[in-house]
Amino acid sequence: MVTTRTPLIAGNWKMNLDHLQAVALVQKLFWALRDAQHEFESVDVTVFPPFTDLRSVQTLVDADKIPFGLGAQDLSVHASGAHTGDVSGAMLAKLACSQVIIGHSERRQDHGETDAVVAAKVQAALANGLVPVICVGETSEDLEKFGASAVPVAQLEQALEGVAAGTEIVVAYEPVWAIGSGQAATPEQAQQVCAALRAVIAEKIGDDAAAATRVLYGGSVKSTNIAAFMREPDIDGALVGGGSLKVDEFASIIRFQKHVGV
Ligand code: 13P
Repeated sequence: MVTTRTPLIAGNWKMNLDHLQAVALVQKLFWALRDAQHEFESVDVTVFPPFTDLRSVQTLVDADKIPFGLGAQDLSVHASGAHTGDVSGAMLAKLACSQVIIGHSERRQDHGETDAVVAAKVQAALANGLVPVICVGETSEDLEKFGASAVPVAQLEQALEGVAAGTEIVVAYEPVWAIGSGQAATPEQAQQVCAALRAVIAEKIGDDAAAATRVLYGGSVKSTNIAAFMREPDIDGALVGGGSLKVDEFASIIRFQKHVGV
């Protein structure tokens, strides 16, 4: 299937790298990609550093020499005020963040984020002009009990409650059992779930949005398996954890077209 969606390779650094290490990684990454401009221009790349690194990375991205998007890993449901430890969408927008990860399984697990909280965070992102990168995915228990699609589909339906037709979003399908395990989903299984998620997007925010939305796969993505995922019609990119922390590996993932042979 020919798709007009620009692939998105997103690096979720999680709680890794201080601001000096972050600056070094972005610079080295850009350097590693300097000879592949033509491939690299047909792919969007966003890095999601910890909050403490955002300002430092922003100064590089802002200089316009490094064409990566900048995103945050979470945001507050609140606009401002007495919410110690929280960071607002407005603060992130001011730092030139364009995207924000919402509902990552690690936040659902570590912070008890419910589907209602995820939906509220999606609204907070949109209110500040940030594109929400909505993460959904089943645990191994869910997989055994309900199959692969049921839980991610239900999570996305709730996250998109009250979202207006045609809104720009990104969806990331990350099976919890595949994250950091070295055991990625098969491309066929990921395709099946991503197609089901695209159907939810169509039902909730319209066919045009469904056709335009990038649906990513995440969970043990590497330079050796990215091509197989990218060949699937409903997979438009990857949300990469561990592999985004290593310069050569992440550069190779960004240059997946080399492996796909397009
Ligand atoms: P890994 O790529 O380390 O499996 O992490 C995936 C992930 O959780 C990205 O958000």
